[in-house]
Amino acid sequence: MNVHIEKAQAILRANDKGGYTVPTARLYPFQWNWDSAFVAMGWQTFDEPAAWREVESLLEGQWDDGMLPHIVFHTASDQYFPGPDVWGTHHAPPTSGITQPPVLASAVARLIAKAHDKDLAEAKAAAIYPRLLANHRWWSRARDPHQTGLVAVLHPWETGMDNSPAWDTAFARVPTQTTTVVKRRDTSHVDAGHRPHDIDYQRFIHLVDCYREAGWDPARMWKAAPFKVADVSINAILARAEADLLGLAVSYGTAAEQAEIAQRAAQMKQAIATLWQPKLGLFGSHDLIADAPIEVATSAGFLPLYADAADAAQVASMGATLDRWRAQVRVLVPSTPPESPVFEPLRYWRGPVWAVVNWMIADGFARAGDAVRAQQILAATRSAIEQAGFGENFDPLSGVAGGGGTFSWTAAIYLLLT
Ligand code: DGY
Repeated sequence: MNVHIEKAQAILRANDKGGYTVPTARLYPFQWNWDSAFVAMGWQTFDEPAAWREVESLLEGQWDDGMLPHIVFHTASDQYFPGPDVWGTHHAPPTSGITQPPVLASAVARLIAKAHDKDLAEAKAAAIYPRLLANHRWWSRARDPHQTGLVAVLHPWETGMDNSPAWDTAFARVPTQTTTVVKRRDTSHVDAGHRPHDIDYQRFIHLVDCYREAGWDPARMWKAAPFKVADVSINAILARAEADLLGLAVSYGTAAEQAEIAQRAAQMKQAIATLWQPKLGLFGSHDLIADAPIEVATSAGFLPLYADAADAAQVASMGATLDRWRAQVRVLVPSTPPESPVFEPLRYWRGPVWAVVNWMIADGFARAGDAVRAQQILAATRSAIEQAGFGENFDPLSGVAGGGGTFSWTAAIYLLLT
C-alpha cells in the first residue's frame, strides 16, 4: 500500500474519539459538521462501519427543528473557544447554535453508492434519510423565509470559509462589542498568521452573543442578524445535496417528498443562476442586508459547477478563470487568487488551498465535461499532500502546509483520490 494511504488511514484512526472524528487534535477537539461529512467518505474506503458511525454521531447533535449544528461537543475540552458555555444552546449533547455547509446528504448518497456491505447501507440509509429531509426543510424554512430559492447564512462560520475576503464588507458592519469575554485558544495551537485577526473574533463573538440573546430561535435570529449573506458555496452545496437527497427519496421516501425535493432543487438552481458575475468569470455571493452582489473572486465561485448549475458559456468562462489563476500559483486552487489585492498565502481562507474545496470543484468540472481541468485540480491536490503532508491547507505559492497538522478532512480527501 502507498505510504501516504497508510498515513491518511492512521490520521483518521488517531483522530477517532470513539465514533466521531475530530478535525485535528487541540485546534478542533470536537465534531465539526462538514468535516465529518467528508471524513465519513474517507472512512468508507477502509472501514465502512466507521463511516456510518461518523454520520450517526453527527446526527446526535441535530435539533428538533432539523438544524444540524456546526459543532457537536461530545466531550468537554478547554482547548477551544467558544465552548458550550458561550453558545448556551441547551441541547444534549451540547452543540453550537449555527450550522455549516450541508454536505451530509451528498456524503450519505456516496456511502450508499459505494457500499460493499449493501445490507448495512440499506438499514442505515433508511433511518438517516428522514433526518436529512428534516435538515433540508430547515434550510428552506429558517434560512429562506421569503422562498427566493437562495438560503442565507447569518455567521461567517456557517460558510466554513470564516475569513474569506468575500465577507469583508458585510462583516465590517458587525459591531465589535461583545458581552462574552473573548479568550482565543486557536492562536496558542497554530501560527497566528494562519488564523483570522482578533478584530474578526470580536465580530464572530458579537454574532454569537446576538443569536444567543435571540434564544437560537430562527425567526428572531433572522430579524436580529447584522450579517446575512446568500453564500454561493452554501447554495451550490445545498443544491447538489438536494439532488442527492432526491435520489435517496426514490428509495426511502414518498412520492410527495420526491416532488417537494425536486421542486426545491429546481428553484435553487434557477436562483443560483442569478449569482453569475461576468466580470469575474465566476459566481459570487449576495449580501442580503445591502441587497448587493459581492464582487470578490474566491474559489467558492466555482462551486455551482458541483451543483450542475452553470451553463456552457459559464463553464468555459470559469475554465479561463482557472487557467489564469493556475499561471499565478504552484498549487491550485487558491481560496483567493494572488492577483487579488487582499491575497495572503497562508491566512486561512484568504489564499490557502483547501483539499475539500478542490475535490468539489474538480467534481464540478468533471460533471461539466471538462475532464482536463478536473484532473489538473486533483493532481495538484494529491501532489501537494504527498509533498507537504496532511496539513489543514496549503500555501498556493510555495506548497507549504498551513494551519493545523494531521488533518482529518485532508486525509479523507487523499483517500478519495487514490
Ligand atoms: C474555528 O473555530 O476556526 C471554526 O472555523 C469555527 O467553526
